[in-house]
Amino acid sequence: MRLRGLLETGRTTSAGTRIFTNRVAQAEALTASRRAVCEVAKEPGLVTDFSRPRKNVLSFYGQSGIGKSALSRHLDDLVRSGDTTEPTSPITYRHDFAKSGDRDFETLLIAIRARLADKRVPAPAFDLAFSLYWSMAHPGEALREYLQGSGAGGAASGAADLGSVMTDALSDLADAVLGASSFGVVGGATRLTTHAVRAIARSASQKKLLRDCPYLDAAMDEDDLVELLAFLPHFLAWDLSQQQSRQPDEGGRRRPLEYIIFFDTWEDVQAHSGHEGSLEDFLCRLMYLMPNCLFVVTGRERLRWADPHSAGQFLRNGPDNWPGLVSATEEPRQHMLGRLTDDDSRRLLHTAWPGKPPSGRRPHDDRGQGQWIPGIPQLRSGSV
Ligand SMILES: Nc1ncnc2c1ncn2[C@@H]1O[C@H](COP(=O)(O)OP(=O)(O)O)[C@@H](O)[C@H]1O
Ligand SMILES: [Mg+2]
Repeated sequence: MRLRGLLETGRTTSAGTRIFTNRVAQAEALTASRRAVCEVAKEPGLVTDFSRPRKNVLSFYGQSGIGKSALSRHLDDLVRSGDTTEPTSPITYRHDFAKSGDRDFETLLIAIRARLADKRVPAPAFDLAFSLYWSMAHPGEALREYLQGSGAGGAASGAADLGSVMTDALSDLADAVLGASSFGVVGGATRLTTHAVRAIARSASQKKLLRDCPYLDAAMDEDDLVELLAFLPHFLAWDLSQQQSRQPDEGGRRRPLEYIIFFDTWEDVQAHSGHEGSLEDFLCRLMYLMPNCLFVVTGRERLRWADPHSAGQFLRNGPDNWPGLVSATEEPRQHMLGRLTDDDSRRLLHTAWPGKPPSGRRPHDDRGQGQWIPGIPQLRSGSV
């Protein structure tokens, strides 16, 4: 007998299977929310009007282990697995705030932008405004080196090669004026100086963009770095809206673009909240500034931006800004994530144990903690 055969004799194998039980109601909430945001995205002037309420945040909250991250991943998979007969062409980006390195607003923005680049969606207004921000925040520093050196690019790994995406975007900008401009680019296009970026913005090549995008001119004059950073998402939304409103005969896509962003482990964002300028405030502003994108937020607590006591904590607060967060019916809104429905529990157990569940380990009563299926508490014996 060959030695390997010897070793294999009597071996029992175990193979892990990933099972996800439906969560049908949540998937329906997502579908309804997608439809609502697509409708609203058609309204002319939506992204530039800061007096309209926002209805683009779908939230699921519930206790630890109830299945929020699993749900977030599942919904992302559902969107991505949609076929080409769907009326829209969705792009998704999923961001988990569990790791402290992923709680950096600047990196998150780059990741959201990189995902668009990955799908060949141009973002000229954002790239210009971001170049200015970058030249002020990291003078003389190349974006690619920064991302590699700091490990900050990890947040978007898988989305795209961040460094090259942004480098290409900045190079294009610089190329537009290089040669014609006396403003040098230090050691490569990514080391743009603030002076050079402002000159590029005011050059003939950017005239149309500056004329069409109403707040870009003001952004190019902004000296407050933090204000500029907080406002940058607007330009992403504006760039996206240009693509969404373009008809196929004008070079637009046959199926309108949809951008769905998943934010998971929101409790880690809320943990450092409570004042204007906090990460949660910045993210709340980001979602306000991007009304043509759907955000799916999962965390332990519900979102409190619409609560009366949230004034002073969030720049855009209250039910006038966020009617969906206090709505009981209209999607997108907030949903408490409970245990699986009886039907879903039964299906999960059936898939895991096509015969019958292992004996002696069934939960006994309504208070059964369901420890034999980690993370799905409160499975009731009656439902099995
Ligand atoms: N609907 C489901 N079907 C099957 N397994 C699930 C489901 N929801 C959660 N789980 C499993 O339960 C565990 C805890 O889920 P998780 O999503 O990490 O919880 P949370 O993010 O709420 O803390 C994970 O092992 C996950 O795979
Ligand atoms: Mg989780």
